[in-house]
Amino acid sequence: MAFRSSAWFGKTDRDGFIHRSWMKNQGLPDHLFDGRPVIGICNTWSELTPCNAHFRKIAKDVKAGVYEAGGFPLEFPVMSLGETLMRPTTMLFRNLVSMDVEESIRANPLDGVVLLAGCDKTTPALLMGAASCDLPALMISGGPMLNGKFRGRDIGSGTDVWKFSEDVRCGAMDMCEFMEAEACMSRSAGHCMTMGTASTMACVVEALGMGLPMNAAIPAVDSRRYALAHMAGQRIVKMVREDLRMSKILTRAAFENAIRAVGAIGGSTNAVIHLLAIAGRIGVPLTLEDWDVLGRDVPCLVNLMPSGKYLMEDFFYAGGLPAVLRELDALIHRDALTVNGKTIGENVANAPCYNRDVVKPLSDPLRASSGIAVLRGNLCPDGAVLKPSAATPELMKHRGRAVVFENIEEFRTRIDDPDLAIDETSVMVLKNCGPRGYPGMAEVGNMPLPPKILKKGITDMVRISDARMSGTAYGTVVLHVSPEAAAGGALGIVQEGDVIELDVSARRLHLDVPDSEIARRRAGWKPPRRVFERGYYQLYYDHVLQADRGADLDFLVGGSGAGVPRDCH
Ligand code: FES
Repeated sequence: MAFRSSAWFGKTDRDGFIHRSWMKNQGLPDHLFDGRPVIGICNTWSELTPCNAHFRKIAKDVKAGVYEAGGFPLEFPVMSLGETLMRPTTMLFRNLVSMDVEESIRANPLDGVVLLAGCDKTTPALLMGAASCDLPALMISGGPMLNGKFRGRDIGSGTDVWKFSEDVRCGAMDMCEFMEAEACMSRSAGHCMTMGTASTMACVVEALGMGLPMNAAIPAVDSRRYALAHMAGQRIVKMVREDLRMSKILTRAAFENAIRAVGAIGGSTNAVIHLLAIAGRIGVPLTLEDWDVLGRDVPCLVNLMPSGKYLMEDFFYAGGLPAVLRELDALIHRDALTVNGKTIGENVANAPCYNRDVVKPLSDPLRASSGIAVLRGNLCPDGAVLKPSAATPELMKHRGRAVVFENIEEFRTRIDDPDLAIDETSVMVLKNCGPRGYPGMAEVGNMPLPPKILKKGITDMVRISDARMSGTAYGTVVLHVSPEAAAGGALGIVQEGDVIELDVSARRLHLDVPDSEIARRRAGWKPPRRVFERGYYQLYYDHVLQADRGADLDFLVGGSGAGVPRDCH
């Protein structure tokens, strides 16, 4: 069987000489060019992405497995996306990285790829790019950090940052404690160890069938993470020989399994956008409505922050995602194929659960209904999302007057003002933070509450925006309003004092303003000024789709396969 890489390394002419000779400067012996499967290891390692800073070691173990199975591993870098440093937001660059991945795979002599991802956007970016090539591919997640430990208790990435920050703002925590908590929270290699976006997406990888069993939960520093990487290296060589391409795994059934898994784990709202985008690349029809329909009857089983109390290390010891999928049983398509060549049903058939307080049984869930609520109404005709498991039950049906912030800078200027006309019944509205507006749809939707409300002991209010929120955050927060304000959506014409109605059980978000007044305001609406005129920002602004379509770039939807391009000399 001749593999794709033979178009480079299997030639005896001048070009074949060039392809092999320069590779040999790395000390690679002749026999590696004998036609064996060439495996790319797509690495998002970067010291600027602390969650992925241990990836060179993971790549080393993948390589060992590839060699052992008779393959030829070649590691290559792609742009990395570090959630904690990159401005204005990593989401602006997710699609750029996907292009990097896609073109790096297609342009090189690769027959299969192991994708190394961890920090939030690295996972969807790599899956999107690889899906547009559709070679055999397998993902290894970097694994979560160990539980944070602070003054005798567990603290979770992100989730406790939001809490500490509010405690400082209302005087319940002093600055010394706040600074001390920094090193206590992030004390090992790995990504956020709450059920934030990184952990959610790692679970998605496993539920989609794109990762080996237990991929999501093994801590980054646990030796079993490296054994899994070794096994992934072995397995990808076999996948190439079996021609087990991504499109054979990423079927509609796989996406439905992933949506249900996100409900059961109380996963991040960011998964909605990412799965829509990945499905778009591989040609599987998936809509925002699917999230509502498929997630509605899924109970939340996993007791992890921000919806519950435990952390990823506990999740691993309890049995990880296989324990959850086994519990979901008939709610998942058990016959969906996974990268190890078995169905997901076979993989989880005997999965044990060692702690029923961490992974609840279906008969006694953490919350009876979970999933993602998809709202509609005149404020969001193309949809908006809310995560019921992270919201306050009493606020899920609410009517209140809008306190409006035109952009994030105005919000930051006004929110601490003691004279701000706001109380706990108000609805906080933030505009111009969507895909075009920020640009990049930043994670600012979980607006901090005003200090005067926090001082009353109130910790949640209804908040609405076209932004995203961190998967580690919580609250009655309506996100991803589509169309966004900067694209002419109704959010852009909301005014201070307007009455807004939220009814999650009816899936309704309504601006209680007469149609004639809405039309009058629309006629006078002007888009916010563009602050950039060139480069990737401009490309992104001109082509980004709205959140309900995964916020991909319109020209990247779909794939181009992995045909061998023209020779380079
Ligand atoms: Fe990287 Fe949370 S900051 S996963």
